[in-house]
Amino acid sequence: MKIVITENYQQLSQQAARIVAKAILANPGLVLGLATGDTPRGMYRYLVAFYREGLLDFSQITSFNLDEYVGIDPHDPHSYHFYMQENLMGQVNIPPENVHIPLGVAADLLEECRQFEQAIERVGGIELQVLGLGENGHIGFNEPGADWGSTTHLVELTEETRRANSRFFSPGEEIPKKALTMGIKTIMQASQILLLVSGERKGVTLAEVLFGPVTPRVPASVLQLHPKVTVLVDQNTTQFRQI
Ligand code: F6R
Repeated sequence: MKIVITENYQQLSQQAARIVAKAILANPGLVLGLATGDTPRGMYRYLVAFYREGLLDFSQITSFNLDEYVGIDPHDPHSYHFYMQENLMGQVNIPPENVHIPLGVAADLLEECRQFEQAIERVGGIELQVLGLGENGHIGFNEPGADWGSTTHLVELTEETRRANSRFFSPGEEIPKKALTMGIKTIMQASQILLLVSGERKGVTLAEVLFGPVTPRVPASVLQLHPKVTVLVDQNTTQFRQI
């Protein structure tokens, strides 16, 4: 595991984008696993800039997103479909048919999960998976207690995660209780993983993730067992700096 501490969020974003850009330049048909949330926004901005400058071509890229809320339509601004469209897909030349995000309004959610996994298998697996870290140690929406052997599945979000994500919703708006998420097994099967960590409140969790026991109580701790992980940490994740 390679741990890189960056001076600030901008540097984290720049370095993350460089890692992804290098992987795309080395392999124009890269299969990318992507995350939403606040942390990767800066990375997406740099990737879009690289594309606009003519450095990157997304025309042969295939992407798979980690997760989506159940019951939220892809056109809803709260959906992860909408987020990806705004932050990346709508700004670069990735063919829409190459973009895979679980559909949280599918009539048969279990079938949706099965087809999502099959689509990953069909392209030979994810080559580079970008992850963010939840305050409770989740990756994707694999919450504490997650099953190490899980593939894409339906999950109940913890109150902690719903509270953390309430910042994306206006007062009075219903925060989803369920989501579809890649499982721990799906994530661990990616050839390479890039974990991005930024946020004052994630320091203690990150120390547990990196140096604590490998336990489902802290789902991201499973990454200690992955052969090729890079962790980019914004040093403003202060509690981590103090440890
Ligand atoms: C998002 C996802 C989540 C987030 C995590 C951190 O697709 O899978 O695991 O990466 O909740 O979110 P932020 O970056 O908003 O702190």
